[in-house]
Amino acid sequence: MALPRVMASGFAPGKCILFGEHAVVYGHPAVAVAIESGVRVSVEQSNEWTLEGVAFEPSRHPHISHILDTVFEYDGSPLKMEVESSLFSAAGLGSSAALSNAIGAALQDHINPGQKLDPVALARMGHSAEAMAQKGRASPTDTATSALGGCIVVSGNQVEGTRHVFDAKLETPEGLRKWSINAVDLPDSLDDACLVIGFTGEMSSTGKMVAGVAKLLEEQPEMEGEMDAIGRITRAGLTAMSAGNLEAVGMAMDACHERLRMLGVSSPSLETLIEAARPHSFGAKLTGSGGGGCMIALTRDPRRVAEAIEVAGGSPLISRLGAPGVRLLED
Ligand code: MEV
Repeated sequence: MALPRVMASGFAPGKCILFGEHAVVYGHPAVAVAIESGVRVSVEQSNEWTLEGVAFEPSRHPHISHILDTVFEYDGSPLKMEVESSLFSAAGLGSSAALSNAIGAALQDHINPGQKLDPVALARMGHSAEAMAQKGRASPTDTATSALGGCIVVSGNQVEGTRHVFDAKLETPEGLRKWSINAVDLPDSLDDACLVIGFTGEMSSTGKMVAGVAKLLEEQPEMEGEMDAIGRITRAGLTAMSAGNLEAVGMAMDACHERLRMLGVSSPSLETLIEAARPHSFGAKLTGSGGGGCMIALTRDPRRVAEAIEVAGGSPLISRLGAPGVRLLED
């Protein structure tokens, strides 16, 4: 029997962390922006469960199965699921958060067609999926930025000059963590600048990188000093962003990268791309969990930086800062 062809589609953007990755897992602030590239998911009733045209194996797709089973407790007809991503995956651009948000949006529209999306609810469900995939150590940064869009500050405490949106908490192996999720309006002067993202070609596991930092802090507690320094740099970077001072934002990005290097999360390929981008940029750093993945550069000359990254062996992607968040797509 033929089934009705009712397709629901959602899109969620990826993100770049400008300041504060890793330290945010421990309650320090982080600043992230949504980017123009992202993940599109469509779901359609079918006779069998498929993902991208092949049989869906839940154990191979923990984010999707968590959203389906634990969040939605979905027990409806099988679904044909299609995923299209314009993000480099496992590369620090929040592709798994974007996937969770996009599938959450598409599923909600499939189950309750026409109901308005609630980005905060999507951010929360995405965070629970990230936490499950990262062995209980995940900040809500990626999922909140992808859900809400724009520029998001995530911190253990509310940060001055930001607009509070919601709070999140998580029981981690190191104890209960709480975050305040806040939005920031970017000044028009930042419209002159772009982010150029450079993918090293090396995939990296956020879970492993976060676990590596946890081990380092356990073995060398003095490394907490690097976390505190990242927190201070993040606050200075946010002040510079709010003032539209691109030079100061770039300096803070460079300084943040140095601290991340001290935590051991950079890699030779990241260093090569950062070095290639810096002469034409306000600042450059790794973004996300590091250990491969992507770097970002802030610049008014995105083509030149993209060329420099390409010549150095990376794959560039240009985005403005602060794209819109998760949304439904009309087909
Ligand atoms: C991942 O994009 C950023 C990290 O800070 C991990 C997290 O916030 O969950 C490394």
